[in-house]
Amino acid sequence: MTQLTVTIRGHLLPDDTTQAAELLFRLGWSAKVDPEATERRLRGATWFALAVVDRRVVGFVRALSDGIAVTYIAELGVAPEVRRRGIGSLLLSAAVAEFRETVVHADASLRTLPVVARAGIVPRSLDIVECASRQRQ
Ligand SMILES: CC(C)(COP(=O)(O)OP(=O)(O)OC[C@H]1O[C@@H](n2cnc3c(N)ncnc32)[C@H](O)[C@@H]1OP(=O)(O)O)[C@@H](O)C(=O)NCCC(=O)NCCS
Repeated sequence: MTQLTVTIRGHLLPDDTTQAAELLFRLGWSAKVDPEATERRLRGATWFALAVVDRRVVGFVRALSDGIAVTYIAELGVAPEVRRRGIGSLLLSAAVAEFRETVVHADASLRTLPVVARAGIVPRSLDIVECASRQRQ
């Protein structure tokens, strides 16, 4: 496996939103490649970071926070071809560091629990069921 040089950055360069839009579409989190909506999605978060390899956006994390008590990791995604190289953990650790004064919450599946736990976000209760409103069509 070749070594990748990963940069984590919190600002957008001109082509970033198109690339991030393609990534969102590939992850199945957007019905179409929509750079404008993607820019709103990123800038609308309290904080975001992109993972970049060779000027290519390969991952991102978005956090919503009041900056005082609570932070929620709204999305964490890494392109399938560069997974299992520590990029997800790097992004999540950057978010936890950014909001270290708050409690950082994230949803995790049993599969992604180790990634989340590595960044210091650990299960508080196994009794909690994730609840959310249905997305409007
Ligand atoms: C979940 C997700 C973000 C993880 O991204 P990632 O970049 O693969 O994450 P990491 O590389 O940090 O960790 C993944 C695994 O690779 C392993 N790993 C990390 N660096 C490694 C390396 N250099 N060599 C081999 N394995 C490595 C980690 O130990 C981890 O293994 P584990 O799951 O058995 O503990 C990614 O799989 C994804 O986008 N999934 C779809 C979206 C999703 O589920 N998001 C919600 C996350 S809460």
